[in-house]
Order: sequence, then C-alpha cells, then structure tokens
Amino acid sequence: MVSENILGLLNEQIKKELHSAYLYKGIEAYFENLGLKGMANWFMVQAQEEMGHAMKFFNYVNEVGGLVQLGTIEAVTSKYKSPLEAMKASLEHERYITASIYKIVDAAIDERDHKTNSFLQWFIDEQVEEEANAEENVRNLELVKDSPNGLFMVNAELAKRVYVPITTPQA
Ligand SMILES: [Fe+2]
Ligand SMILES: [Fe+2]
Repeated sequence: MVSENILGLLNEQIKKELHSAYLYKGIEAYFENLGLKGMANWFMVQAQEEMGHAMKFFNYVNEVGGLVQLGTIEAVTSKYKSPLEAMKASLEHERYITASIYKIVDAAIDERDHKTNSFLQWFIDEQVEEEANAEENVRNLELVKDSPNGLFMVNAELAKRVYVPITTPQA
C-alpha cells in the first residue's frame, strides 16, 4: 500500500497523462486540418505514448492495492496560430509534466516510499526524452521559419515516427 498522499498524487498523474493524450489529439487535429499529415502523425503517436504513461500509473496504483480514481479531463484546443505555436505548447506541457513527476518523487522520498520512488525512475528518464523531442521540434520550426520548403521537410521527417509500446513489466 502507499499513503493517501501518494495515492492522491498518483491518481492526479493518471489524469495528467490522459490530459496529455487529449492535448496531443488536439494538436494532431490542428496539423491534420492544415494538411501537415507528418506532423499530425507525430502527435498521434505521442498521444498513444501518453495513454501508455497513464496506464503505467493506473497499473501501479492497482498493484499497490490503491483505488484508481479518474477525475475530469479539461477541454483542449485544436486551434493554434502557427505550427511553431503548437510545438511550443507541447514543450511547455512536457516541462509541466516533468515538474509534476518530480513533485511525486519528492513526496515519495519524504515518506521513505522506496517502491514508488523506484517506480518513478522510469518516468524521470522518459521525461528527459520527451522534453528533448519537443525541444527538437521547436528548434526545427524556428530554423525553417515560414519557409514552405522547410515546413515540408520537417513534415516528411515527422511522418516517419511509429508507435513503440512500452514494454516494461508495469506497462
Ligand atoms: Fe507522459
Ligand atoms: Fe516518450
């Protein structure tokens, strides 16, 4: 079992990961509507990853005998001013998720909850990757500015992304 405090934070995190998936579906819709199918593909895959993150927390709560509670997921936008703005929104969101995970790690350390701390290590590493990917997308769009050729190239690059399911035991 984990403490009520940790359980609350884990349940909040399930919601945040589901919200991430929702946010990325909104960005996918934005790019799809613009005809940038490669970028839409990238966010479709990202949304799938987020569902995987949510399920990893979901399964952990079950494993430690806690009751999963699913809160309300806020509405998200699919309207952005530019591809760059959409990419920046995803980077900002991943930074927020990293901070949220660090908060649970801090609580687990405070409470000497070693198993939750150990469980969360996977997410610490994952967030390094998530932020790096989002930063790369922002940087690429900053480089190409409004050049249609550049946008087309980034779009073609992001079209290659395929979903790889999480294969760790708790997934
Ligand atoms: Fe996530
Ligand atoms: Fe990832």
